[in-house]
Amino acid sequence: MEKDFEDRARQALAQPKNVGEMNDADSVGTVGSPDCGDMLRMWLKFTEKDGKKVIDRASFQAFGCQTAIAVASMATELLKGKTPEEARNLKPNELSGELGPLPPMKIHCGQLVEQALKSALDGTEPDTKAPVETLAGNLQARSSGKIKIVPLDDSASD
Ligand code: FES
Repeated sequence: MEKDFEDRARQALAQPKNVGEMNDADSVGTVGSPDCGDMLRMWLKFTEKDGKKVIDRASFQAFGCQTAIAVASMATELLKGKTPEEARNLKPNELSGELGPLPPMKIHCGQLVEQALKSALDGTEPDTKAPVETLAGNLQARSSGKIKIVPLDDSASD
């Protein structure tokens, strides 16, 4: 099963969706894992549908493993049309979409995506006047207070 997952993840990585900064985003969230050092940033753009606030688009930038990138690619696709509350309730194994359930060793990679999404939902408004910031830039600057380091719960992989 793990091999199937890895095959699907490889396919998703060949053409990742929704990669890159979103210039007109309403909200952005960035998280980093103290365990593996990987980082993920997610941007959200909202719209209104049938009187409800829903996610119109989502995009991401990752400085992380292939699984996190593959899951973020799937997640940003399936977030479209979800209300903030529906999005907040999605678990890593749901965010992985067509990749299927995450193998135990990869659960924390999905949790990084889940935390980036939650951080974006809590979100800060992107500062469009600030110089373009990238994850790599954040890492080099070392001083960014905007990155939330989240301890990922690896008890699920036991
Ligand atoms: Fe760190 Fe996958 S190994 S998120």
